[in-house]
Amino acid sequence: MTKPKGTNLTWHSGEVDAAARAKAHGHQGVVLWLTGLSGSGKSTLSHRVERRLIERGCFAYVLDGDNVRHGLNADLGFAPEERKENIRRVGEVARLFADAGAIVLTAFISPYRADRQRVRELLAPRQFVEVHVAADLATCEARDPKGLYAKARKGEIPQFTGISAPYEAPESPELRVDTGAENVDASAQRVVDWLEAEGYLSGG
Ligand code: ADX
Repeated sequence: MTKPKGTNLTWHSGEVDAAARAKAHGHQGVVLWLTGLSGSGKSTLSHRVERRLIERGCFAYVLDGDNVRHGLNADLGFAPEERKENIRRVGEVARLFADAGAIVLTAFISPYRADRQRVRELLAPRQFVEVHVAADLATCEARDPKGLYAKARKGEIPQFTGISAPYEAPESPELRVDTGAENVDASAQRVVDWLEAEGYLSGG
């Protein structure tokens, strides 16, 4: 957590702990942190996993880059320091949701390893699950669902990830899905199966 600017602040612990929340929800609170290039399928995959989990009665929720940048982070652009602040704020929001017992899916490029590592350190061990959505640049550029790669190649979007700004792929993510090689349902199923196998979908 960031050191607060305010003084005379007292942390108030509640009467409900993580185990009681897990028992109430029937699953653990956890953050599935999807990272990958624009167009890699982070949003599509996170929403499909969210739907599968909701269908099973879970408390699941997606935080999506493009959406969060319309509200909470509407004041931020794409310079490295702004991306860092984007990820810091989203990390804090994800932490609150996970603390409330949700299965949170975040869909942000989050191109810098250090920024992702900072979020990992904010959470309890096992509460941060890094998911590399690993479609390569050629695949994402061929898809170009929003026409942004074409614009970036023409120099119309500065600091575009993969073209004129870096993407630092995870070195040892908990999960890697290749959306270039398998369809979204297969990827979503793999994520849900992994959560199940690792014990996240039980409240005990
Ligand atoms: S992050 O780098 O700070 O994690 P975030 O996931 O919030 O990025 O937002 C990425 C989305 O913003 C992209 O999917 C794309 O639609 C849009 N975008 C606009 N400008 C850029 C840019 N310069 N680089 C990457 N994405 C951009």
